Amino acid sequence: MLVLGIETSCDETGLAVYDSQRGLLAHRLYSQVKLHADYGGVVPELASRDHVRKILPLVRLVLEEAGITKNDIQGIAYTSGPGLMGALMVGGAVATALGYALDIPVIGVHHMEGHLLAPMLEDNPPQFPFVALLVSGGHTQLVAVQGIGQYQVLGESLDDAAGEAFDKTAKMLDLDYPGGPRLAAKADLGQINRFDFPRPMTDRPGLDFSFSGLKTFTRNLIEKHRGDDVLPDEQTILDICAGFQEAVVDTLVIKCRRALQQAGMKTLVIAGGVSANLRLRHKLEVALKKEGAEVFYARHEFCTDNGAMIAYTGCQRLVAGEKNTLSISATPRWPLDQLKQPQETV
Ligand code: KG4
Ligand code: ZN
Repeated sequence: MLVLGIETSCDETGLAVYDSQRGLLAHRLYSQVKLHADYGGVVPELASRDHVRKILPLVRLVLEEAGITKNDIQGIAYTSGPGLMGALMVGGAVATALGYALDIPVIGVHHMEGHLLAPMLEDNPPQFPFVALLVSGGHTQLVAVQGIGQYQVLGESLDDAAGEAFDKTAKMLDLDYPGGPRLAAKADLGQINRFDFPRPMTDRPGLDFSFSGLKTFTRNLIEKHRGDDVLPDEQTILDICAGFQEAVVDTLVIKCRRALQQAGMKTLVIAGGVSANLRLRHKLEVALKKEGAEVFYARHEFCTDNGAMIAYTGCQRLVAGEKNTLSISATPRWPLDQLKQPQETV
């Protein structure tokens, strides 16, 4: 089945064509990063309008790259939540209108299920069952995954998501939006141990996270070291970035090992924007190898938001016979464990 995937949940317009026989045929991404940079974060109304401007040219481009016309498409998948309401509506409206015009099935996909299954697009995909660490700008969750649609949330962040903590800390250090990757780049140049960052909630049992304390710790460090300036000297900034990143990574590694033990599993999947973090990948690889376990992740461009993960996920559900009615579905808040196995929802 040839499926067009559409992702518009936040500040990225992602399009892809996935074929159940031949795999991923084409994908295209337009990032709105420059548009939102002046505001230090995503402005929802601007995001929706930019999706409107970019989506149809991208549909044409991705079909052309896949070597097909719109009449070849056999199904359409779009992100129907969670995300920004206006942004979700753009993808939903285009998908639904196209599906109606072409008389083909349309399906709304859960954005985090898309992230979770993104590593399936790689040559060496993970096998079910596995534990997934979902780490994005809006979510930090550990999930026991038995199969598609069989998700049990084992633990999650009680306050900021890991990506959000990266972004907010970067903002305090006056790094440009989006701060996560910029903070990570500085962290690689700093000293890990100069500052004694806490590893929040690791000294008690359980799989929940809390990252907001790291922000306060950073704010106090900046205050202490800035002298008469707004910010500390560059070396201190690098050392704060290194200490912060190490604290987040160590905390995630500790909880992942604990989750694997608790679930009795040997396979870990990391997904979402923060899974692009090289330090996280490295420390997980080292830690899990010692225990005979293995970590899987998607290529860099499929860790952050993209259309390929939506096309793939939608394809699995469409092939199983699932589809939506022809009304646009947009669900800004949508718990992952409300999803069902594809065949149950036909
Ligand atoms: O999955 P994603 O693209 O969007 C959401 O669904 O939220 O994740 C974006 C998040 C942002 O918070 C961004 O700063 C973070 O992922 N991120 C990173 C890195 N690359 C992206 N955080 C740390 N290190 C990175 N290399
Ligand atoms: Zn995302």
